[in-house]
Amino acid sequence: MKKIIAIDGPAGAGKSTIAKSLAARLGYIYIDTGAMYRAVAWLALQKGVAVDDEAGLTALAAGAEIDMRVVDGENIILLDGRDISREIRSPEVSAAASPVSAAAGVRSYLVDQQRRLAARGNVVLDGRDIGTVVLPDADCKIFLTASLEERAERRWREFAAKGLDIDIEQVRRDIAERDYRDSHRANSPLCQADDAVLLDSTGMSIDEVLQKTLELAEA
Ligand code: DC
Repeated sequence: MKKIIAIDGPAGAGKSTIAKSLAARLGYIYIDTGAMYRAVAWLALQKGVAVDDEAGLTALAAGAEIDMRVVDGENIILLDGRDISREIRSPEVSAAASPVSAAAGVRSYLVDQQRRLAARGNVVLDGRDIGTVVLPDADCKIFLTASLEERAERRWREFAAKGLDIDIEQVRRDIAERDYRDSHRANSPLCQADDAVLLDSTGMSIDEVLQKTLELAEA
């Protein structure tokens, strides 16, 4: 059985759903690295630090105590002891998280934390650069993707389930913009590691994707 499983891919590909379920099935810890960038983005919005103020963002990341735990099957993100799990999923934080994650100083603090958490073993991490930069020696690397249309629809459903009425075209544009920015930034851009298995989940059910990832984790 693989001890460190890295799942990377673009926004809305289902990484967190799959990584969380996979971790639960294997009895592993799930580390949602995107939530860490979202937490810093949320803090920046709260404190009025501009998303292009690299020094200001780095200072926020350096001082932020981010903690993650699972309560009743839900992933809880604590920032300096406050539960911000819901706040970090808003469209505003989603939009801010992408430029915030491009700041080299922010990445360096968060990548350190991610490596420390992963060092315990028996972990599933999801993100954009886990297999390429954070843990290039991960035992199992999966690059999970799906068509832009399907990813937009999945995100839109998530928002609708939370009672947020957002135009699906807007969701599609936001995701496309985020994909572009995440893949073209200078620092640790989103890309598939040479030794990652590509899993295109377009047209697949969550159960089918989970089954496939279980096979890869157990291979
Ligand atoms: O996976 P997510 O949508 O929660 O990620 C939020 C943002 O953080 C996204 O724009 C990409 C960025 N991110 C990153 O740069 N590196 C990671 N390991 C995880 C997320």
